[in-house]
Amino acid sequence: MDNTTVPRHVSIIMDGNGRWAKERGKERVFGHLNGVKSVRACTEAAVEEGVRYLSLFAFSEENWSRPESEVSALMDLMMVSIRKEVRTLMDNGVRFVVLGNRSRLSERLNASIDALMEETAGNERMTLIIFLSYSGKWDILQAAKALAKRYAADPEGLERVGISDFDSYLVTAGIPDPDLLIRTSGEQRISNYLLWQTAYTEFYFSDVLWPDFRKKEFRKALRAYSKRDRRYGKVK
Ligand code: FPP
Repeated sequence: MDNTTVPRHVSIIMDGNGRWAKERGKERVFGHLNGVKSVRACTEAAVEEGVRYLSLFAFSEENWSRPESEVSALMDLMMVSIRKEVRTLMDNGVRFVVLGNRSRLSERLNASIDALMEETAGNERMTLIIFLSYSGKWDILQAAKALAKRYAADPEGLERVGISDFDSYLVTAGIPDPDLLIRTSGEQRISNYLLWQTAYTEFYFSDVLWPDFRKKEFRKALRAYSKRDRRYGKVK
């Protein structure tokens, strides 16, 4: 693909693990287990295609209300995957970052995340961002609170705050907004994901369930993106 049309930042709402498992008469966790294989495949494909940032919506703030057995299985899966993938991330020059409300994660998981983030911090080929315990409204609210604190005694400074200043209070500070957002499994909604950051993102919806969304499907999404005409509200 022509380098100029490769999206710099691809984000994915990985959906359909439960339905994939149900179709096979298995528990939902079986879908998540196979979903991890798609995480690996799409990460590899993104590196190969020259994508600079790949972000994945792995667990929303709302997902905490799923049955306790599913929540703990998902957290265990994160933990195991993190420990297993160190070598692959290092070999492929991938920096690993977790963003979200980390105060809700266990100490053990937070420690593993910190260790992997530290170990991969110097990698420059691609950044893999996992959104964990994340929601878009939570992010905007925490940014607004931090801003309010910062300018509590400086109303004139507050008046001068612009869009890009606000960007720097979001947990995604320093990360470019997604160029392409993929959602799998046929659902067509944003589900409280990156609300602020997707102002001019191109959306791509696929009917394929996440455990079946592998390299071929990822490349198909990139090809569709390369045909889009992005105008950012302007006239060409
Ligand atoms: C959506 O399917 C998927 C999730 C809520 C979890 C995604 C997690 C993984 C793929 C595994 C761990 C990830 C990493 C980064 C190691 P769903 O359960 O909502 O499916 P359904 O809509 O068919 O019920």
